[in-house]
Amino acid sequence: MTRGTGSVESLSHGGLALEPIETASVDELRALQLSRLKWSLRHAYENVEHYRAKFDKAGVHPEDLLSLADLRHFPFTSKADLRDTYPFGMFAVPRERVVRIHASSGTTGKPTVVGYTQRDIDTWAHVAARSIRAAGARSGDMVHVSYGYGLFTGGLGAHYGAERLGLTVVPFGGGQTEKQVLLMRDFKPDIIMVTPSYMLAIADEFERQGLDPRECSLRIGIFGAEPWTNEMRREIEQRLSIEAVDIYGLSEVMGPGVANECAETKDGPTIWEDHFYPEVVNPETGEPVADGEFGELVFTSLTKEALPIVRYRTRDLTCLLPGTARTMRRMQKITGRSDDMMIVRGVNVFPSQIEELILQRPNLAPHYVCELHKEGPMDTLTVRVELKAGSHTDASGALGAQAALAHAIKSYIGINATVKIEAAGVIERSVGKARRVIDLRSN
Ligand code: DLL
Repeated sequence: MTRGTGSVESLSHGGLALEPIETASVDELRALQLSRLKWSLRHAYENVEHYRAKFDKAGVHPEDLLSLADLRHFPFTSKADLRDTYPFGMFAVPRERVVRIHASSGTTGKPTVVGYTQRDIDTWAHVAARSIRAAGARSGDMVHVSYGYGLFTGGLGAHYGAERLGLTVVPFGGGQTEKQVLLMRDFKPDIIMVTPSYMLAIADEFERQGLDPRECSLRIGIFGAEPWTNEMRREIEQRLSIEAVDIYGLSEVMGPGVANECAETKDGPTIWEDHFYPEVVNPETGEPVADGEFGELVFTSLTKEALPIVRYRTRDLTCLLPGTARTMRRMQKITGRSDDMMIVRGVNVFPSQIEELILQRPNLAPHYVCELHKEGPMDTLTVRVELKAGSHTDASGALGAQAALAHAIKSYIGINATVKIEAAGVIERSVGKARRVIDLRSN
């Protein structure tokens, strides 16, 4: 079966058959992007009042885009645009043509609402299927989905992708950890799709039930929806004896499956550039930076009908890298979101930097939280982290771990942090995205 977006339905050759566009020449890819980009800008301008007003104000018109580089002249879109036009003001098609709505709950106020036409759902299933195949899926595999179903895009995005590949899907969703383990023991899935932090909670539950997580049936974990470091990857891979690959996405752009790591290289998510055009910009000036340079990731949709998105500021920090396993460019594993950046006595710190240091210490568990407090005019950071279950660390061992982590934070990040070692199980577990930063400064 062929369709406009290319066909990914078959998992022949053990799952390795790629779509032609995945290995096309760079020139071919750029030509496709340019023609799709022209369509997308015109579609946004002609059908969304808000985009038309913004383009007019910036003095740009879709006809001005003659090359991909011209995209830099177009205005950015941010969460605020979606909030200002809440709920459906950014839709480029009549509401009746929207077959699905998702929403992400922001930290404050109204949620961000996104919509999909039938063709959008089809494109999404297609890129999610391509992602799962890139992660190493084989025909006949069973996929256990522990991303939440509902307004969050994780569950349904993963579900449609796995189903499109013809795999067996177990639509579990988040929570009921004990039952997740029970079904995993009995059904024997090959692949799990879940946030990396909830994967750890599931592994803990395996152990609580007296089972060795390495003995479980899983071969692959497809982890995303939150930042996770390569140290976390190693921890999860060893603990469950699986291959852990990174899936990236965001609701405003589509959902899970905007980019996915290829199993053969595991060198950062490959961006499905035939549907989502990436740029990295300097977060302060908004100027695009060269590939390889760090900045904020920005996406423009190339094929979306219901919610065309033009230069969306993701707030995710990364850099673009040349393609390896595919023609499409990769992004470096996200180190953090600008929203999660803590400023402690003038030093910028991301939870991922703390995570790396925690995971280098064998007696500490990857369950942690960063608390920001105010002491007089100063912001202070307390890192609360658990001892590894069964690490048999006595009081002096705990003191040693505390001092060693505080020392590492001072040496590698350059700040004085208070480290609090907690007993196993004390840090709150999330069944979805983990909350790594708790701001207690206003209290
Ligand atoms: O989290 C979509 C998703 C679901 C992706 C399941 C992967 C798996 P939102 O709730 O809109 O959508 O949150 C999007 O989550 O801007 C990033 O900050 C973060 N994020 C998503 N994937 C990754 C990842 C979904 N692989 C926001 N690494 C994004 C780091 C990620 N951060």
